[in-house]
Amino acid sequence: MTLQISKIANNLNFLATSAIAEKINARIKNGETIYNFTLGDFDPNQFPIPLELENAIIEAYQDKQTNYAFIGGIEILRQAIAAYLEKSAGLSYQADEIIVASGSRPLIYILFRTIADPEEKIINIVPSWNNYNFIHLAGAKAISIETKAENYFLPNADELKPHLAAATLISFNSPLNPAGTVFKETQLREIIDLIVEENQTRQRQKQKPLYVLFDMVYRSLIYGDVINPNPIKLNPAIRDYIVFIDGISKSFAATGVRIGWAAGPREIISKMRAILASLGAWAAKPEQFALTKFLHNPTAIDHYLTDLKAKLLQRLNIFYQGFLQLKTQGHPVDVIEPEGAIYLSIKFNLLGKKTPDGKIIQTVDDIFGFLLEYAHVALIPFYAFGASHDSTWFRLSVGTCSIEEAKQAMQNIECAIKNLG
Ligand SMILES: Cc1ncc(COP(=O)(O)O)c(C=O)c1O
Repeated sequence: MTLQISKIANNLNFLATSAIAEKINARIKNGETIYNFTLGDFDPNQFPIPLELENAIIEAYQDKQTNYAFIGGIEILRQAIAAYLEKSAGLSYQADEIIVASGSRPLIYILFRTIADPEEKIINIVPSWNNYNFIHLAGAKAISIETKAENYFLPNADELKPHLAAATLISFNSPLNPAGTVFKETQLREIIDLIVEENQTRQRQKQKPLYVLFDMVYRSLIYGDVINPNPIKLNPAIRDYIVFIDGISKSFAATGVRIGWAAGPREIISKMRAILASLGAWAAKPEQFALTKFLHNPTAIDHYLTDLKAKLLQRLNIFYQGFLQLKTQGHPVDVIEPEGAIYLSIKFNLLGKKTPDGKIIQTVDDIFGFLLEYAHVALIPFYAFGASHDSTWFRLSVGTCSIEEAKQAMQNIECAIKNLG
């Protein structure tokens, strides 16, 4: 029966990745052994938050910082974020061009509501994390563009060009959830140049500009000599139209601490603050004081990130090398070298293969079921990120696994793949 509630709520899907992860967790609670690599989260036993941050949070509670905080973030925190963005990302923003909330999620939603009116068009690049739900909540219309594995699942200018004129907002994410890949500099430069050109035309015609949401929540987690290009360096004219989304969830493995921020043009940030004031989705005040203190400790940040990245890459490489070996041996898999975030993209070309009990794998869900049954491993198919249902790419997240679990799970997968008919 359809509930008598709003169409927006009725037609909203629960976050696809969380829905799969919750089902798997329920089976684990029932006693099954499953390597659950579905969640974009961290196991605090494997990846605790920085100790200095933890201690500062406790101190701030003891210091009774427990009343309402300034809406949009206490000033000393926004100043600390401004300095941190300058130092770690080469982005220059003043404290009043920054807004802080309880994680980056509310800010993404607020930005969609700030920029797009219902029925306006938003470019939805897929596979991507949760964009479709934000577009739906804004009552906007999606223009979906599916990226290609050969471009590491990031879009290029040619793919976007035909759609820019119709859109009000376009959202990018690098390093990318789900693929674990990062924009190449020329690829991003060509896109940003196109958007700037589009906005020059709109300005002449006194039309609403095309805004850019640049989600960089994984920017601290990049590996080897990979560089996450800075759109403003590539073309400074984009600054008037771009809003960056960032936070501590992934950089400091602090998904449960709930602090995120956005940096962008003052007028946009100020309107976002007005929406945030009503939503009340601001970050907890003790955490804001604690993060301010932590951001003033660059040595602790450097130590923490060096260690976190090494641990994540170690796990990513166990799987990357394992899948590379299977591929070299002629098994029907493919894998993309990890560049950033906590994810690995793996292709299971298993359609038409026969499982040991004689079943033919016919759909992507069959691949998911095969991995679960024969390798005890749960991964997320790319269709859960908006890719087409016949995409046989999957996301593997290493944020919740130990080295031993990674090794065992890879062994299970190898064994299962080798036993396919
Ligand atoms: C690309 C991307 N942006 C934003 C978020 C949300 O982060 P937060 O915990 O700060 O709300 C996630 C979470 O998985 C993500 O993958």
